[in-house]
Amino acid sequence: MKTIIEPFRIKSVEPIRFTTKEERIKIIKDAGYNTFLIHADDVLIDLLTDSGTSAMSASQWAGVMEGDESYAGSRSFYKFESAVKKITGHEFIIPTHQGRAAEKILFTILGGAGKYIPNNTHFDTTRANVEFTGAEAVDLLNEIGKKPEVKADFKGNMDVEKLEEFIKKVGKENIPLVMITITNNSGGGQPVSMQNIKDVRAVCDKYNLPLFLDACRFAENAYFIKKREKGYEGKSILEICQEMFSYSDGSTMSAKKDGLVNIGGFLSLNNDELAMQCRNLLIVTEGFPTYGGLAGRDLEAVAIGLEEVVDENYLHYRIRSTEYLGEKIVAAGVPIIEPPGGHAIYIDAKRFLPDIPPYEFPGQAITCELYIEGGIRAVEIGSVMFGKYDKEGSIVSPPMELVRLAIPRRVYTQSHIDFVAEVVIEVFNNRDKLRGYKIIYEAPMLRHFTAKFEPMK
Ligand SMILES: Cc1ncc(COP(=O)(O)O)c(C=O)c1O
Repeated sequence: MKTIIEPFRIKSVEPIRFTTKEERIKIIKDAGYNTFLIHADDVLIDLLTDSGTSAMSASQWAGVMEGDESYAGSRSFYKFESAVKKITGHEFIIPTHQGRAAEKILFTILGGAGKYIPNNTHFDTTRANVEFTGAEAVDLLNEIGKKPEVKADFKGNMDVEKLEEFIKKVGKENIPLVMITITNNSGGGQPVSMQNIKDVRAVCDKYNLPLFLDACRFAENAYFIKKREKGYEGKSILEICQEMFSYSDGSTMSAKKDGLVNIGGFLSLNNDELAMQCRNLLIVTEGFPTYGGLAGRDLEAVAIGLEEVVDENYLHYRIRSTEYLGEKIVAAGVPIIEPPGGHAIYIDAKRFLPDIPPYEFPGQAITCELYIEGGIRAVEIGSVMFGKYDKEGSIVSPPMELVRLAIPRRVYTQSHIDFVAEVVIEVFNNRDKLRGYKIIYEAPMLRHFTAKFEPMK
């Protein structure tokens, strides 16, 4: 059958609130034209992020009731530990409250001034945690991954030649570890091939460097490998995940993505000395090593989520829903990063609104209009999020101006996605009416969260 159905029935529903266009015009104005400042109750379809927004299954909710809240040695920890070990094969499993807590611990120990961490593309929190220690976060994405209009299977791959050149340039003693982000969130949710992970491993072996995975979307990455990489069509998702992790010495994980939970994460490693140092820091910052900033019930939910996420029917529905949205809007001429990644569609705002220059924030204009037109909340990833000022006070823009439509897991049905496509297409067909924006307030750091805007006259 051609129709791909949601691989679940709905047992519990959460109403969403409808608003009129007139109401939304006022709401977005009152929010300073910043979608982060809108009350979630005023949003019809929330595509701000896929992180922590998953719907949990009936068994996960049952697991919540089963949670063992013992301070030390909780039964739920051992269940969690064994679920993580089954996928990663790593020996030491350290629970954290979310991904960035795992990063903070790892880089506090291994980072520091004069050190470099290569990655395909660092996610913002990873970069921030590396740089907070004084180390430098270096992105070594392959060239094709930087071209939104080029279709390729594994646009998240690291440039292996550049990695080796980089190691020779700065010296292996200054590189405490190499990292690969699967899938590459900041590069459009694009996957990394097994061959690329193996090639990076070979370079790490040559220079005796540990390899870590930023594994937030490991199952989505495994599904792409199964569908796109020769030799993996007959393997199960679990086998592919196990092989991916087998080339690594550790991982940081935000379970808010492929753990199918609303909170949780972990750090997994094989080095016992490093694990001991991480646990000691965990006790200071997160909690005792058998709960690490989570309740027993959260550990249960992650353990069950990790089993559910490697189900191929689930992944088929998941990746297909994203692709389906991408195909529908591309057919109407909407420019996006192609092919669609795993967790989100990224609209290319530069091609969508070629007449609005980056310093008038074309991505913000689209984001506001999606809300006004259909109550859809998206996020700008361009000059608002990453723009910096030069000495003359002019904005220096990042290479791409994007609008991300991130799809929460198991939350929206096909008709929700059809509605989203209709709204995007309507905004695209009326793009001539859109105007740029100017910033009237901004915080000194991470301005996109709280900035206020005004439409240009
Ligand atoms: C690739 C990647 N790494 C790390 C993180 C950080 O995870 P958390 O939000 O749980 O701290 C995220 C979150 O979006 C991510 O996408």
